[in-house]
Formats: sequence, structure tokens, C-alpha cells
Amino acid sequence: MIAALVGLYDPIVNWFRNHPSPPVAIISDMFFSWTNRLAGELKISRYVFSPSGILALSVVWTSWRDMPKRNDPKDENEVIKFSNIPNCPSYPWWKLSPLFRSYVQGKSQSELFRASSLENVASRGIIFNSFTELEKIYLDYLKKFLGHDRVWTVGPLLPSEEERVERGGSNEILAKEIKSWLDQFENQTVVYVCFGSQAVLTNKQMEMLALGLEKSGVRFLWSYKEPTKGHTVGEYGMIPSGFEDRVSGRGLIVKEWAPQVAILSHPALGAFLTHCGWNSVLESIAAGVPMLTWPMGVDQFTNANLLEELRVGTKVCEGEKTVPDSDELARLLASSVGDAKGVRIARAKVLSKAARDSTGNDGSSYRALDSIVDQLSKP
Ligand SMILES: *[C@@H]1O[C@H](CO)[C@@H](O)[C@H](O)[C@H]1NC(C)=O
Repeated sequence: MIAALVGLYDPIVNWFRNHPSPPVAIISDMFFSWTNRLAGELKISRYVFSPSGILALSVVWTSWRDMPKRNDPKDENEVIKFSNIPNCPSYPWWKLSPLFRSYVQGKSQSELFRASSLENVASRGIIFNSFTELEKIYLDYLKKFLGHDRVWTVGPLLPSEEERVERGGSNEILAKEIKSWLDQFENQTVVYVCFGSQAVLTNKQMEMLALGLEKSGVRFLWSYKEPTKGHTVGEYGMIPSGFEDRVSGRGLIVKEWAPQVAILSHPALGAFLTHCGWNSVLESIAAGVPMLTWPMGVDQFTNANLLEELRVGTKVCEGEKTVPDSDELARLLASSVGDAKGVRIARAKVLSKAARDSTGNDGSSYRALDSIVDQLSKP
């Protein structure tokens, strides 16, 4: 995709040169790193937009810059330490950026990933969908890393009230059904389970997750993804037979795209079992819902660590191939909405307020946006 999109280079140059009032800058997603070269040719600035968090990108960029070495190139579990980054995060090799690892292994096309990362670092500035109160120490680190202050946090960027239902293609009828189902329950007693738009669980994972939910006795709303192209028929995404009957009354299973932001903001929600995609993380934080984490890949491991540091995340499993232990899972699910939930919920509410304040009038994200406009207005 990255290579293919570079094909837009010449058409954009033509469009720009013939435009009566051409753009003053390019703000583009980090996967469009080639737009930095484009901006150079057009003599304007390019700013990166990062849909990932600051800690996550700090680890990725630091990997590319420092090229950490392994003692044993066959040991996927060898721990790599990032001692320059605050709190000295460390990760086993297999959790590092897949693009970075493919470069180290000399895979084809991977030179492109390195060039892409360097183009992003060399861009004029970077804008994060995050907020200062969430990742302040990492924001400061990244400014030092880059050697300039043109790093802004403008998040959390969330859909408006009106957009909440249709977002991603869920429908009004489903949204109403879900709402009235949740309405029957007391505050903070339901666990929402969803692993985002990409992950499809294997049948073994489905089975253990279902068993965990069954044993835990919790109320839950499980939105799951059915297998798509590329999944071996019969091996993925199957709800164990009889499961729906056994949990009827306390478990709702949704096969379509669920209106996640609306679900998370329902007062009945007590916890969210998530793969820790950054949008899910921000949506849960904004709604004040603590998380049970099962990071599966890319930046999700770093995101899960951040949630532990912030004391709103409890790890239940990790890795996209890992099959959870159903007893342990049941214990953590029960505890997430059990007697001890108060501390985590209180903590999540503090972050939720900080999220609201940051995007409110004169909040940190609000002011960052003003500062970006100032920056863009400079000759
Ligand atoms: C449940 O939550 C709602 C919305 O936050 C709140 O208005 C209400 O007072 C809560 N009910 C109880 C019994 O705590």
C-alpha cells in the first residue's frame, strides 16, 4: 500500500501547480511518509498525523534510530530495553514493530519501511490523537528525541453524538436493541468484549473466551468479527454451540459492527475487554471505563503497558495466537465488575474528565490546535 500510494505523487504536483490558491502545508497520516518529499518539492511543510499514541511511536522511532541488537537472533523472547524512554520500557523481541523486525530480517520491501520512518522523523512536526494529561512524559521525551517543540496533542478525537451510531456502519435498530438491553442493568455491571475491526479469533480462542465468560457469571456484551477472506474455512470465529443458550439473559452477542462509542458511554458499562487498538483505548478512557487488556499486535503491547501505568488496565492475555486460560480469564472478568472495581473506575473517571477538559474551551488539546494554526500561518 505504501509503495502503491506513491503513485499519487505526480498527479498531486500537477494539481498543486495549477491551483489558484494551493495548500500551505500537508498534514498526512504516518503511512504517507512520501508526502514529506512531496512537500519539499512544493516548498511547503509536511506534518505527520499519528493515529497511534506517543509512547507507541516513541518506541517505534527509537527502534529505528538506535537499531537495538539481539545477542541471539533466534530468540524471539530476548528482552530489548529502551532506557532513554521514561519508565525504561522493555519488550521481548516479538513485541517490537513488525515493520522494524521485517527490516532486521532483511525481508523484501523492508528498506521502504526504514525510509518511511526516517521521512516521518524528518517532517516539520507531528500531531497526535492523544492528550497531554495522558502521555505528558512521553510528549516531553519525543520533543527531546526530535530536537524541536513542534509536537502537538489534539485528542481525543471522537465522533459527535450524532455520528456515534452510524460510525463504521452499524445501524439504528441494532443501536436501539443494544441500548434497551443495557438499560435493564445496574450501573457498572456489564463487561463489553470487542477486539476491533481486524482481529478474528481462532475457534480455540473463541472457545476459551466463551468458557471464561460462562464461568465468570458476569453480564457481557460480546461484539465479534466473523471470518473474512484469508481465513481457513471452519477454523475461525465460531461461537461454541449451545453457548448463547447457556448465557441467555446475561450475555448479548453481536455479529454486526457494534456502535462502540455509544456502548462505552452507557452507565451499565463496568469494564471493556479490548485488544488495545488506540481508538478503542481513547474511546474507553473518554467514557471513563477501565479496561481488561489483550493486546494482539503492532502498537497494542505498548498501549496495554501505558494503561497499566495509568492504572486503568489489567492484562488478561497477550499475543494474537495466544489461547487464554479460561479459569484465569473468568477470575479477572468477575473481578472487573466485582467489589474491588471502585478504585479502577474512580481512576478511569479522572482520566475521562481530563479528556473532556483537554478538548473543551481552552483545554490543552484546544490550545494545541490554535498553536498549529499559528504555526501554519507563519510565512
Ligand atoms: C447510574 O448512572 C447514572 C448516569 O451516570 C446516574 O445518573 C445515576 O444516578 C446512577 N444510578 C445509581 C443508582 O447510582
